[in-house]
Amino acid sequence: MPEDLDFSGRTVLVTGGAQGIGRAIVEAFALRGAHVVIADLQLPQAQALADELSGQACQVEAVCVDLADTTAVFERVQDLEQRLGRLDILVHNAGYFPLTPFAEITPAILERTLAVNLSALFWLTQAALPMFRRQGQGCVLATSSVTGPRVAYPGLSHYAASKAGVNGFIRNAALELAGYNVRVNGVEPGMIATPAMGNLGNEQLNETIATRVPLGRLGKPADIAGAMLFLASDLATYITGQTLVVDGGSTLREV
Ligand SMILES: NC(=O)c1ccc[n+]([C@@H]2O[C@H](COP(=O)([O-])OP(=O)(O)OC[C@H]3O[C@@H](n4cnc5c(N)ncnc54)[C@H](O)[C@@H]3O)[C@@H](O)[C@H]2O)c1
Repeated sequence: MPEDLDFSGRTVLVTGGAQGIGRAIVEAFALRGAHVVIADLQLPQAQALADELSGQACQVEAVCVDLADTTAVFERVQDLEQRLGRLDILVHNAGYFPLTPFAEITPAILERTLAVNLSALFWLTQAALPMFRRQGQGCVLATSSVTGPRVAYPGLSHYAASKAGVNGFIRNAALELAGYNVRVNGVEPGMIATPAMGNLGNEQLNETIATRVPLGRLGKPADIAGAMLFLASDLATYITGQTLVVDGGSTLREV
């Protein structure tokens, strides 16, 4: 393994790591030596992944959290601090995206979307900051999206607004936290084949979408995990406040 991608001795917290993109991020860091904590609403699924990777000599554990619950977010990070003593890389990947036409969005849907996708990123970062400051370094990564920051998708105006907010957070937090040697970056996935894609349509729609992607396929969760590894690695120590689009060229076409 190249030295730059060896995460031995580092602790990584991955939200929404039980399945989909988060699962691939957990695997990528765990298989490269990191101690990974999965924080997810679905504890049995997260625990099964932790057990599976522990069986491959990785250090992975699972904790249950609803990221819409601010108090619970602080408690989970403080519990991590007490047990493990450090956090090197925070990956806020969990996402909430119920497909809802604009006219049918309720306050409850909008509030939960913003709480999970955007507010949790604030509280996770704030809770981790004392550890980052003590360590003299830290890395925050967010799974954003091309939807919101660059393009639109019918039925996702609430989600698009939350992800545009994530990009705003990334730039501003990067500026404010640079003095503590904390880097803040994100990845903007395009269409990635995960359990969540079922939310948008069916197999046939997925196949149609795949033919429209310039690189000719839907993305894989590992495509996003690769970008996360790079941004967290020592290859990227001068990169902060940025998002990397990983979409197979989907958003390139001008007309
Ligand atoms: N799949 C795509 O095409 C795509 C595209 C762009 C961005 N994204 C982003 O990637 C991230 C992961 O998406 P995915 O496709 O893997 O989704 P997914 O639904 O397969 O997985 C999301 C995970 O987040 C967890 N989660 C959801 N709400 C939570 C909460 N309140 N508290 C704790 N955990 C919670 C779920 O239990 C699940 O394990 C999301 O932020 C999503 O917005 C995905």
